[in-house]
Amino acid sequence: MSDSRETINHRAFVVGYPIKHSRSPLIHGHWLKTLGLRGSYEKLEVSPDAFPGFIQELKQGATVFCGGNVTIPHKEVAYSLADETDALTDELGAANTLWLEEGRLKATNTDGIGFVANLDDQAPGWDRGHKAVVLGAGGASRAIIQALRERGFREIHVVNRTVERARELADRFGNKVHAHAMAACHEVMQGADFFVNTTSLGMDGEPAPQLPFSQLAADAVVTDIVYVPLKTIFLEQAEALGLKTVDGLGMLLHQAVPGFEKWFGMRPIVDDVLRALIIADMEAHA
Ligand code: ATR
Repeated sequence: MSDSRETINHRAFVVGYPIKHSRSPLIHGHWLKTLGLRGSYEKLEVSPDAFPGFIQELKQGATVFCGGNVTIPHKEVAYSLADETDALTDELGAANTLWLEEGRLKATNTDGIGFVANLDDQAPGWDRGHKAVVLGAGGASRAIIQALRERGFREIHVVNRTVERARELADRFGNKVHAHAMAACHEVMQGADFFVNTTSLGMDGEPAPQLPFSQLAADAVVTDIVYVPLKTIFLEQAEALGLKTVDGLGMLLHQAVPGFEKWFGMRPIVDDVLRALIIADMEAHA
């Protein structure tokens, strides 16, 4: 790295449209403060029309930023405009973390890393089993299917309201991944070792159907990527049957770690203090 790059501003962004509800500035701001680092992390609202121009300027070094996070609706375009990506991100076709390195814009997707790290932290051994059920087939589902496959699940069953979308994912992610309609839930959940909700069902206390969690293996782990509320309807249903549950907030916190390390040079820690900070913010805006 040249001297000029070392003196570059340690300024990072989160870009989306809209962006005002993002909690990422709170997370990175906390780490910058507790690690005593100089730097900033700011929200940028950029429309889809303006986004390619923003990336172009970033690549040319014409902005003050050394990288940042990308959120809805820009993840696919960010991926396609990056100079360098890794194999797992290529399979997803969507990036959430960007950084400049030796004049090149690098991109990766840390959703799978966040998902796995949260479970490793909260439910060690969660990946012992071989059969997983994934509810939902949207953008969030993809990184999770990939992560489950990487962790060695031999059967990954994707259940979705629109079965065609589940089939697309089964085709994309190979022969361990199977597609089902919602009506197959009962059968598909039988004996499964792991369940994750990747849909918006239950978000903000919206109603969600009763799922047949009693079909799961007795030592199954149930998680949800929805984290508002922290204890979603699905987690409540599973907990009532004595199953181990893990809420989705840790995924949000852990997916932020690799980006912070790239931009600011230190690996931050996800701990109870950070978790409490985000929960307090959620409560303040409830
Ligand atoms: P994301 O990128 O956040 O995953 P998405 O691509 O819009 O968002 O996907 C949302 C997921 O939630 C989809 O699996 C969607 O099902 P469809 O593919 O049938 O649309 C699912 N979903 C949203 N609302 C739902 C509902 N009321 N009942 C069942 N599934 C729902």
